[in-house]
Amino acid sequence: MSTQSKITSVTTSVVRQMKQKKEKITMLTAYDFAMASMLDQSGVDILLVGDSLAMVVLGYESTLPVTMDDMIRHTQAVARGTKRAMVIGDMPFMSYQSSVEKAVENAGRFLKEGMAHGVKLEGGEEVAEVTRRMTSSGIPVMAHLGLTPQSVHQLGGYKVQGKEAKAAQKIVRDAKILQEAGAFSLVLECVPAGLAKDITESLEIPTIGIGAGVHCDGQVLVVNDMLGLFERFTPKFVKKYANLNVEIKTSVQQYVQEVRAGQFPGPEHSF
Ligand code: KIV
Repeated sequence: MSTQSKITSVTTSVVRQMKQKKEKITMLTAYDFAMASMLDQSGVDILLVGDSLAMVVLGYESTLPVTMDDMIRHTQAVARGTKRAMVIGDMPFMSYQSSVEKAVENAGRFLKEGMAHGVKLEGGEEVAEVTRRMTSSGIPVMAHLGLTPQSVHQLGGYKVQGKEAKAAQKIVRDAKILQEAGAFSLVLECVPAGLAKDITESLEIPTIGIGAGVHCDGQVLVVNDMLGLFERFTPKFVKKYANLNVEIKTSVQQYVQEVRAGQFPGPEHSF
């Protein structure tokens, strides 16, 4: 009989083991019950209820306006649709910056009310203390370095980070500090592939890249981007695996036309 156990649910120790075994970790964003169920059934390891919710679901121009209550409501929906994947709630702008106490309280809401398994927060050394307090309170923390969209106004736009040596060294240093503070994994967004490789090789915790090349321990994309549901813009690092916005519009146009022509509902749809 095989001694190899089948993974029934993804935990922090599972993702750590995946790094050790060089098995790639898959992560996608999800914002609602239906999509979460489909992604979970398709074998995605981690579902991130990203604060990208603000842009791709709620229609804001940036991630900044989304609130804790928005995030909790959508995290609950994702958790209800998920059986196997780890669900991570993304801490929104200003939910963890003003004090450590407020940060831990808000992170706790993701687990207590949102039924998430952990939280993600953006930033380097400046969030190390918050990361330490959350992990010592039993809240798994996923860190996020490189392009941190909540700091878009400070960064001067959505640009690749860590291109110059000094900036690269800071990201490497921050990654070590966050690992030390207890983060169980690290998202690297929009950094040169070589830098992401060096960081991945220097850390014990897994890195999950978005626009950070192939050498990360895992990959993440915004699901609305990779399925072609978000039309406003498509970053260079996105591969579109489907063009669902075309399929949806074609189907809806057909429905509109059939209703107008009296072709729907047919006898088979009527009582
Ligand atoms: O909010 C989000 O979708 C994210 C991913 C891009 C990592 O933070």
